[in-house]
Amino acid sequence: MSEALKAIQQRRSVRKFTGAPVPREKIVAALEAAMAAPSARNLRPWSFLVATERPKIVALCQAHPYAGFGVDAGAVILPFGSKGSHKWFDQDMAAATENLLIAVADLGLGATWCGMDDERQAAIRALVDLPEDQFVFALIPVGVPADVPAPRTQFEVSRVHWERFGNVGSRS
Ligand SMILES: Cc1cc2nc3c(=O)[nH]c(=O)nc-3n(C[C@H](O)[C@H](O)[C@H](O)COP(=O)(O)O)c2cc1C
Repeated sequence: MSEALKAIQQRRSVRKFTGAPVPREKIVAALEAAMAAPSARNLRPWSFLVATERPKIVALCQAHPYAGFGVDAGAVILPFGSKGSHKWFDQDMAAATENLLIAVADLGLGATWCGMDDERQAAIRALVDLPEDQFVFALIPVGVPADVPAPRTQFEVSRVHWERFGNVGSRS
């Protein structure tokens, strides 16, 4: 298996961190991977806010109903951008977010994609001085893992339809 395919399977949601800081160069390497993602018309609607100070990490994770586990992370990354005017915003941001998560795993760190909806915007934006016209796409605690779930594939042959609907489980 290639290194890239291994990294994809190594990417698991990590929710236990040692509390150690995350080296800045690893954060930059992960952001470089994020920004290598495809985007419609190559408009690259993304920006990223990186919080590394402990009180900010704690406040961000506690402001999200399902990210409380992230208080011991070494950073929180918020991919954000102008959603309103860009039809493909969500798809572009998802591509960048997944690239980031794969890179994080490959760099020996751990992270979890915590989803952001309209209701969660105001509280998170206020903590990092983001203007109201900016949409926070995800909240991603990133840290040195204290517990790493095993790599795995979730391949299911029944999910693949060859040539026409219903022709699953074989290539003929
Ligand atoms: C759009 C989206 C939103 C998610 N939101 C949360 C979340 O709020 N909190 C959390 O702990 N995990 C969240 N997850 C992580 C999923 O629970 C996780 O990806 C899934 O259980 C599969 O496990 P794996 O990531 O280890 O492969 C989210 C994942 C996605 C793609």
